[in-house]
Amino acid sequence: MSSLEIKNIFKHYGAFQALDDVSLSIRKGEFVTLLGPSGSGKTTLLKILAGFEPVTSGTVEMNGRNITALSPEKRNFGLVFQGYALFPHMSVYDNIAYPLRVRRRSKAEIDQSVRALLDLVQLGTLAARKPQELSGGQQQRVALARALVFKPDLLLLDEPMSALDKKLRHDLQEELRQIHSTLGTTFINVTHDQEEAMHMSDRIAVMNGGCIEQYDTAHTLYRHPISRFVAEFVGKSNIFQGVVSASPGGGSSFVCANFTLPAEAGKGGNTCMMVRPEDAEITTSPVADGRVSLPARVVNSTYSGDRALYTLTLADGAHFIAYGNARSGVHSNGADVSVSFAPQDMVKFD
Ligand SMILES: Nc1ncnc2c1ncn2[C@@H]1O[C@H](COP(=O)(O)OP(=O)(O)O)[C@@H](O)[C@H]1O
Ligand SMILES: [Mg+2]
Repeated sequence: MSSLEIKNIFKHYGAFQALDDVSLSIRKGEFVTLLGPSGSGKTTLLKILAGFEPVTSGTVEMNGRNITALSPEKRNFGLVFQGYALFPHMSVYDNIAYPLRVRRRSKAEIDQSVRALLDLVQLGTLAARKPQELSGGQQQRVALARALVFKPDLLLLDEPMSALDKKLRHDLQEELRQIHSTLGTTFINVTHDQEEAMHMSDRIAVMNGGCIEQYDTAHTLYRHPISRFVAEFVGKSNIFQGVVSASPGGGSSFVCANFTLPAEAGKGGNTCMMVRPEDAEITTSPVADGRVSLPARVVNSTYSGDRALYTLTLADGAHFIAYGNARSGVHSNGADVSVSFAPQDMVKFD
């Protein structure tokens, strides 16, 4: 049974529509990420789930119960929000104990729970410190412990790592994943960082302009994006804009500036085809094996030991990115090469 059902949520701020018919099913214990660019409505959706913002229309159900109008404190959700700061005058211990004191738990129970959470976030030795005596990453771990100590039914995280440097962010991602698998609590995380989303989530909802464009596993989003937006937002991509038209000899063709391919019959008109960089191969001469093979020139390469990432230009001047096996060296800038890829590795969007 699904633990959280978000059904047809619309949200207007005055005349501005921030959410446009958003529906999502989240299973108990799942780690779901809302991924999208700034302004796509991620925080708005999270605030609605937390009970901080009313919906214009639509419903939120938790375990079959309609909670759309329930006040935040009655939802029993843990929150790690930007601007939901630690209490500066309280120690780490007291910050984490706070939600339990509000709930009037016994002293013994509070102590046991706080100790357990301090261990979970690896801050056992810093219990007496004040927040300002901690690093940014340590403060985020205290915020996480405070949000989890009362065993919430759901944890909502709004870009909890955006203020941290890359290394720290990576460590905290790893920790968060482990905490999730230890506790089995349902997590909903918000980020604009596609790598973070792909590393951590069971499923990702890609948001764009107040809509959910696609909701699926990282692998499906990457291999089978349903729109150009998803293809470009999740991972690196090469996109060919073209048209589908009837071929003189029957059937349909996809025609773009660089090549023509047989296409499924049906709708004509503008369309695009996408190929991922790792599905393309760079060779010094053209290949003739049924793959698309295009002349290209190297404009840049980034060598990383195991491989090199090339930026190429095609005959029409468009850029194409592809990985090359760099064991026997790297093609130099200005080199003329061929880039090839198989039609079955391409994804088409209407
Ligand atoms: N209180 C508000 N009043 C008016 N517009 C708002 C308000 N909060 C957010 N918005 C607008 O709604 C859109 C979505 O915002 P938000 O949910 O914060 O996006 P995200 O978290 O994806 O960056 C933005 O265009 C933002 O300017
Ligand atoms: Mg936001």
